[in-house]
Amino acid sequence: MRWVRLPTAEAVAVRAARFIATACRRAVSRRGTFHWVLAGGTTPERCYRLLRDCPLPWHKTHCWFGDERLLPGGHPERNETMARRALLDHVPIPDAHIHAIPYADDAGQAAMHYARMLAERCTLPFDLVMLGMGEDGHTASLFPGQLEPVAARLTIPVTKAPKPPAQRVSMTSHLLNQHRHCLILVTGEQKTHALRRIQHGAPLPAARITRAWWLIDREAWPSGYKSDGWASARRL
Ligand code: 6PG
Repeated sequence: MRWVRLPTAEAVAVRAARFIATACRRAVSRRGTFHWVLAGGTTPERCYRLLRDCPLPWHKTHCWFGDERLLPGGHPERNETMARRALLDHVPIPDAHIHAIPYADDAGQAAMHYARMLAERCTLPFDLVMLGMGEDGHTASLFPGQLEPVAARLTIPVTKAPKPPAQRVSMTSHLLNQHRHCLILVTGEQKTHALRRIQHGAPLPAARITRAWWLIDREAWPSGYKSDGWASARRL
């Protein structure tokens, strides 16, 4: 694990935005497109706002969603709505490149539909997967205690999420791990306990994500705490 500690939540958002900008330019110049998996949550939202004014090859960018709450399009609590308001409505990204998780009568149908969209339109590995982590160690909508399919499934329905709303769709860790780069943004003191558990080897969902850069603020990991695996922000 590569963990980078930054002074504030704002510094995490700024560093993540710089990383995304570089990854986007590089992917487009090397492969012609940038396939980016977006996250919900407060720290990603800060980062999206910073990217609004960035002159990136947006018309070559494709956005996917690591998870979504089972709510109709435009609902203020959808991760898609947050990403549109914070970033996507402000940059010249073609609407056909915003691959939102569809709404359906139940999470099972929505998950199946998104798996089909992924199989038809997405190029793996993703150029960049961006994630947050909840205070219980969940990431995307993969929550502790919830079984993930053993087979190589792309998405799963979630019907009893402890963080509301209970019904959600998530990419599986099998799919989230198919990335060229991955950022996990963790801010705020409520996250310290889960981070410590992960440092001690607890198999929390966020720990299933491999080869990620963890950007962590000082509230989430106070400087008195010892740990292994810290890297300098310069190596990012
Ligand atoms: C969601 C997200 C979830 C989020 C974490 C961290 O639907 O809320 O997908 O996984 O990223 O809970 O959220 P915060 O950054 O707001 O703590």
